[in-house]
Amino acid sequence: MSRDAELNTGNTPGGGRADVVLGVSGGIAAYKAAELLRLFTESGHDVRVIPTASALEFVGAPTWAALSGHPVTSEVWDDVHRVPHVRIGRSADLLVVAPATADLLAKAAHGIADDLLTNTLLTATCPVMFAPAMHTEMWEHPATQSNVAILRERGVIVVEPAVGRLTGADSGKGRLPEPEELFELATEVRRRGALPADLRGRHVVVSAGGTREYLDPVRFLGNRSSGLMGYALARSAVARGAEVTLVAANADLPDPAGVKTVPVESTAQMSAAVLDAAAGADAVVMAAAPADFRPVERADDKIKKADDGTAPTVVLTQTDDILARLARERPREGAVIVGFAAETGDSEADVMTHARAKLQRKGCDLLVVNDVSGGKVFGSPETEAVILDAAGRSTEVGRGPKSALAHAVWDAVAELLTAR
Ligand code: CTP
Repeated sequence: MSRDAELNTGNTPGGGRADVVLGVSGGIAAYKAAELLRLFTESGHDVRVIPTASALEFVGAPTWAALSGHPVTSEVWDDVHRVPHVRIGRSADLLVVAPATADLLAKAAHGIADDLLTNTLLTATCPVMFAPAMHTEMWEHPATQSNVAILRERGVIVVEPAVGRLTGADSGKGRLPEPEELFELATEVRRRGALPADLRGRHVVVSAGGTREYLDPVRFLGNRSSGLMGYALARSAVARGAEVTLVAANADLPDPAGVKTVPVESTAQMSAAVLDAAAGADAVVMAAAPADFRPVERADDKIKKADDGTAPTVVLTQTDDILARLARERPREGAVIVGFAAETGDSEADVMTHARAKLQRKGCDLLVVNDVSGGKVFGSPETEAVILDAAGRSTEVGRGPKSALAHAVWDAVAELLTAR
């Protein structure tokens, strides 16, 4: 087979056409890239791993070869007759570098190509995504920040590092986001071919989870909201450049990287936190399920069972409708207010008729409608929805991961913000 034919068919021995290239540079977080690789391969992707020589100090070539099913090298001098640095870069649909060290970002920003990964970065025609991981001082150093700015200016995606435990006992900003988070983002980049930076310079507020209204110190009224949708909205907004405040109620999920998370428990706490953040926000998305009722009284001590077998009567009162209040008070002029509605049809009307009435009643700008007839959607990583706007337009979002719906919501928000 001629070399050109090999390039075109991609069925070359020694690593043929891979739809994803995973670059790994030399940081302790390299072990997490093995998990990211597994997420790619288990979802049917053909992945070619290119570690740098220092990445191999942390995780050896046999691990990458066994998990990817392809030979692994850091060098341009191996397999030279097949011109790997050109072939791999040209043929991939997505190139992800995780972890990306300060050194690797510097080389990428300045076009330095001294190994297979950095050469591949120069020949890649597909979307490129870097997930930096390093100590806080290295991330915040003006040299690194200027390299990140250069890369972002070129349309390259540079993921914000997470805050948390670093290599030693210390913690701070610079942690590699969780592999699931990177995989979700990479999937979206691959699906769209790019990720718009249309929320750069915008501040958005997202609420997530289900609030709890306590009867006494140990018992509460709650609901089944998992928080998955709100967290997906927060992560996708960060990826599109927004400053994000996530008001999170009782969700058992890791804090998303690059997001200011404000934990709350009750609807009153959520209301205060959302209204406070909304004063400086361009958009507020109420993906949470705030409890609609709370006990009028909360006992200071645990309510005891009565000996005569009687049960206490709990008197409830309505909580603040945060969405309606945001829409009425408009804490910031021009901000886009988004609500979610889990609806079922009934003998009176179908799902969409109820949803349109709710959009009007709440007074918000967009309403994301989930049809939950038969218990669909709750706790599931997948969803489908219709996005309604106040002008009567509707956009259907087909069944897919919650991250895809999240991006569709931001598409609609960004469009309204541009038009205002
Ligand atoms: N919501 C809110 N404050 C509340 C209750 C709900 O901000 N106390 C928001 C939710 O976050 C969601 C939207 O309102 O964005 C729709 O919630 P839903 O429970 O469907 O609305 P309700 O007014 O409670 O309508 P229904 O009578 O159909 O339950």
